[in-house]
Amino acid sequence: MARLLESELPVVAAPMAGGPTTPALAAAVAGAGGFPFLAGGYLSPETFAALVAEAHPLGGFGVNLFLPQDRPVDRVAFRRYAERLAPEAAALGVTLDPVPVEDDDAWPAKLELLLADPVPVVSTTFGLPERTAVRALQRVGTAVLASVTTPAEAAAADELGVDGLVVQGVEAGGHSARFDPGAVTPAISLPDLVRAVRTTTGLPVIAGGGVTGPAGVRDLIAAGAETVAVGTLLLRCDESGTSATHRDALADPAFTETVITHCFTGRPARALRNDFVDRHHPAAPYGYPALHHLTRDLRRAAARAGDPQRLHLWAGTGFRHARSGPAAEVVRALAAGL
Ligand SMILES: Cc1cc2nc3c(=O)[nH]c(=O)nc-3n(C[C@H](O)[C@H](O)[C@H](O)COP(=O)(O)O)c2cc1C
Repeated sequence: MARLLESELPVVAAPMAGGPTTPALAAAVAGAGGFPFLAGGYLSPETFAALVAEAHPLGGFGVNLFLPQDRPVDRVAFRRYAERLAPEAAALGVTLDPVPVEDDDAWPAKLELLLADPVPVVSTTFGLPERTAVRALQRVGTAVLASVTTPAEAAAADELGVDGLVVQGVEAGGHSARFDPGAVTPAISLPDLVRAVRTTTGLPVIAGGGVTGPAGVRDLIAAGAETVAVGTLLLRCDESGTSATHRDALADPAFTETVITHCFTGRPARALRNDFVDRHHPAAPYGYPALHHLTRDLRRAAARAGDPQRLHLWAGTGFRHARSGPAAEVVRALAAGL
């Protein structure tokens, strides 16, 4: 049966916004027979348009976008959190803006661009797009994928008429795709989640979260996934744009575990546990993107200063397996024995 994502190997490079996903990483993954996703989140429409133009020669590829959020942060809680973080920022020579910034990550402009300059695949995260957006993308020949974390979210995406699902396990590094940021994390392994989703919908499934090697790929395919996505495993690759501070932390034995926290951006994300998480997680309000904007300069300064204790060190549970070297080796190793 033809796969939704056309690639020689059933291995996907998950989109990783904020630097790690680069055109060079996408090209290396495509060259090795995998299917690359580009990360459209955080980019201005201009930078996004240039990225899409640069990606066309790859042939098969996907573009990922963040959806607008409908729950503004509580302003009182936000102000309190900004005050709490002020000394952290001051330690890095940064001043925080105490006024919450709520934006839509330029979703309407990015959607317009993708309708004018269509790409093979678009995936979305942080909820579901409007039905009109799904239809418009499909009309220009684009396959639309929705990211989901539960069978109920999968059923809602199916009802919307998307072409496929990105099923993200709780093991995954970076932001959770869950529709409700404050929802309780389901304690279910990714293969079990894939099996549960497959009983609710017949849509093709791309499964990602905590995959560390070929056995994980085989398990997910046996569970009903069409293709398997990896993010964390690519973070230390030569072609990735991960900051040196983040890269080093992933290999540093001082970091021993990952946790899910909304203390950096207001939306739950899996990261290496560091001092910032220990100090601020219990006090952090939910509220994406307001907290993302609040802490962005602080985090940028931490990355520049080589301070891993104040940086959001996104990492999945399998972070110990992330190696340096060419991305092509990671892709080929994952597909070994298929
Ligand atoms: C650094 C980083 C950035 C990420 N950025 C995005 C993103 O922009 N959009 C998205 O849908 N998922 C994003 N994710 C989640 C991945 O798409 C994917 O679900 C996850 O990496 C899979 O689990 P793994 O990291 O254990 O391989 C990110 C993950 C990481 C580690």
